[in-house]
Formats: sequence, structure tokens, C-alpha cells
Amino acid sequence: MPGLLLGDEAPNFEADTTYGRIRFHDFLGDSWGILFSHPRDFTPVCTTELGRAAKLAPEFSKRNVKMIALSIDSVQDHLAWCKDINAYNGNEPTEKLPFPIIADANRELSVQLGMLDPDERDKDGMPLTARVVFIFGPDKKLKLSVLYPATTGRNFDEILRVVDSLQLTAYKKVATPVDWKPDTSVMVIPSLPDDEAKKLFPAGIFTKELPSGKKYLRYTPHPK
Ligand code: BEZ
Repeated sequence: MPGLLLGDEAPNFEADTTYGRIRFHDFLGDSWGILFSHPRDFTPVCTTELGRAAKLAPEFSKRNVKMIALSIDSVQDHLAWCKDINAYNGNEPTEKLPFPIIADANRELSVQLGMLDPDERDKDGMPLTARVVFIFGPDKKLKLSVLYPATTGRNFDEILRVVDSLQLTAYKKVATPVDWKPDTSVMVIPSLPDDEAKKLFPAGIFTKELPSGKKYLRYTPHPK
């Protein structure tokens, strides 16, 4: 069954993009990476998503995350669509976005990566790409995968929030609770014993009392 699971290494595919031909591992380099797919060029929801992604490009760059989109049309179509996306953002209608768009006109990559939405088809009955978000770590392993149907646009503020959580939890022995935002308290991971946690988190650990008497709700301030 094609597709990617958490922990899988990103396939080192070659593809044509609006920035020329790329090899995915070379493109990622030592950075984090986000690959997000789109059902089709010149479609309304996709245009709003790519417009938002373009506006947020400096935020992804600040976090050392390389962005790349994919849609199942040609490079030529992508470049013409980029003009519309820039105009939608109120900018000059140029062919350049701050990230490349992969051309997957024959759907080869979409099949390999498990991106097709069986419920959304083009006029010829061919399945369109779903809205997939893959986030890869600097080790090129898949850290997050979210799959939205073609009819539901993504929230790119949420994607940035998730990047913040992934990057924090990759390096510190913490997990982020429900609706977490940067600079608010995080939780000590269950596998870390209390004595080690006290040493690792000098800002302190705050435990919430529970009817079970088990002290598993352990908070600590966002580690620096
Ligand atoms: C859209 O981007 O608007 C879209 C694309 C395919 C199916 C539904 C919506």
C-alpha cells in the first residue's frame, strides 16, 4: 500500500517544479521540510491556501522549514496559476512564489505518497489529490502527517503551531497539551521519572492533584 507512515524516510524522488528539477533530499538539505499537496491548479480553495502559505513563508523560514507544494498539473500551468495567487494576495502578478510547486501531471508521486482523494474526481473521472501535509525533520523522517479531503481548506496558523510543537518536543523531554501555544506551559513526558525531571527542568514542575492520586499531570514552563 503506497503512502508514508510516521518515522518513514522521505522518498528521494526527482520532480519538475516551478523552480526547476529537484531531488527531494537535496532540496531538504539539513532543514525541516513541509510538503503540502493540492487537488488542482486554478481552483478556489487551493488558491486561498497557497496565498496564505506564501504570506507565511517568512515564518516557516524563521523556523528553518523548507516549503514545497504539489499539484497535479504541469509546470506551465503552475506558473500561470502563481500569477493569480500573487494577485489574490494583492501583489504583482508574477510567476514566483516563495516556494516551488511540484508538477505531478501523471499523478505518479501522488500515488507513491498516498495522496489521492477517491471521492474527488476531475471531468474525466480521474481522482484528484487530497490536501496532505507532511512535515519532515532534519533527519528526513516523517514527523507529522495530516490528510484533509479536497473540499476542506487547511489552517496554516495551526500548521505553524504544530511545527513549534514538533521542534520543541524533538529536543526537550516534553509534550504540548491541548490548544498549546508557544511560551505557555508544557507537560513532562510520562516516561521521565520525577527525580530526572526535577534536574532537567529547573524552572519547576507543577503537578495537578487528581482523584486517582496519580501524579501524571506534570507541567513545567516552556523550556528555553
Ligand atoms: C478547491 O480548491 O476549491 C477544490 C478543489 C477540488 C475539489 C473541491 C475544491
